[in-house]
Amino acid sequence: MTPKVIAMAGKGGTGKTTTSALLIKYLLERKMTPILAVDADSNANLNELLELNVDMTIGEIRKDLKGDMPSGMTRDQFMNMKIQQAIIEESGFDLLVMGQPDGPGCYCSANQYLAMTMEHLAGNYQYILVDNEAGMEHLSRMNLRSIDYLLIVSDPSARGILTARRIAEITEPLGLEVKSKHLIVNRAPEPMTPELEAKINEAVKESDLPLGGIFPASNELVHQEITGTSYLQLGSDVPVVKTAFAAFDKIFA
Ligand SMILES: Nc1ncnc2c1ncn2[C@@H]1O[C@H](COP(=O)(O)OP(=O)(O)OP(=O)(O)O)[C@@H](O)[C@H]1O
Ligand SMILES: [Mg+2]
Repeated sequence: MTPKVIAMAGKGGTGKTTTSALLIKYLLERKMTPILAVDADSNANLNELLELNVDMTIGEIRKDLKGDMPSGMTRDQFMNMKIQQAIIEESGFDLLVMGQPDGPGCYCSANQYLAMTMEHLAGNYQYILVDNEAGMEHLSRMNLRSIDYLLIVSDPSARGILTARRIAEITEPLGLEVKSKHLIVNRAPEPMTPELEAKINEAVKESDLPLGGIFPASNELVHQEITGTSYLQLGSDVPVVKTAFAAFDKIFA
């Protein structure tokens, strides 16, 4: 099976992780499974929105790989074993956390093993969803050379949307083939004023990015986050869930 790769991009704090959690909920409910969710933010927190604990990260495995192998084990076998341990298995989806990036010193061979293992793993999934921090170098490191869906998240301002456009443009020099890009405008005031809506639409037009959706600011999301309750448990009648699902229906049609 060749998985479809979905990646998040966008300025800090715009809602990439929030959108990732809502998208996992969507893919699960639409039975677009199995899913591999990759938390590629060094300050990992997707697991928190899903109420999951992380025991081991890829960053830690990379460190272990620099040391001596247990006797009778090749680096390949060791890496595979460790990755299996690091994968958090849930019903319909798995979560893998990248953790801290490389420190000083050469991790090149370890990264090569990681890329090989990812290639091997990828065939087990229908969708791979990568929640990023603003940079996108994790994507090339994981050997995911092409992205089927890039979702660029922005705050609801003309300047934010301009930034989203610039972020969309930097994927090209990275050598990443991006098959489709969509802009998600997040945390729009609810109810939206006609003036703001007109402004957003104007900025979207100038951005050349197709609009995937405008998600409302949501007290329900704030509540789930504060109480540490999984976003997967949000009701289907919650406005932001409805809006996000309608947007995903169009993007993933
Ligand atoms: N639609 C929304 N309604 C209310 N709060 C939201 C909404 N979207 C995001 N937030 C809140 O804004 C904060 C930042 O969101 P989130 O962590 O998803 O952004 P991010 O882009 O992943 O940030 P980072 O760049 O730090 O990874 C969180 O506290 C989140 O709960
Ligand atoms: Mg995040």
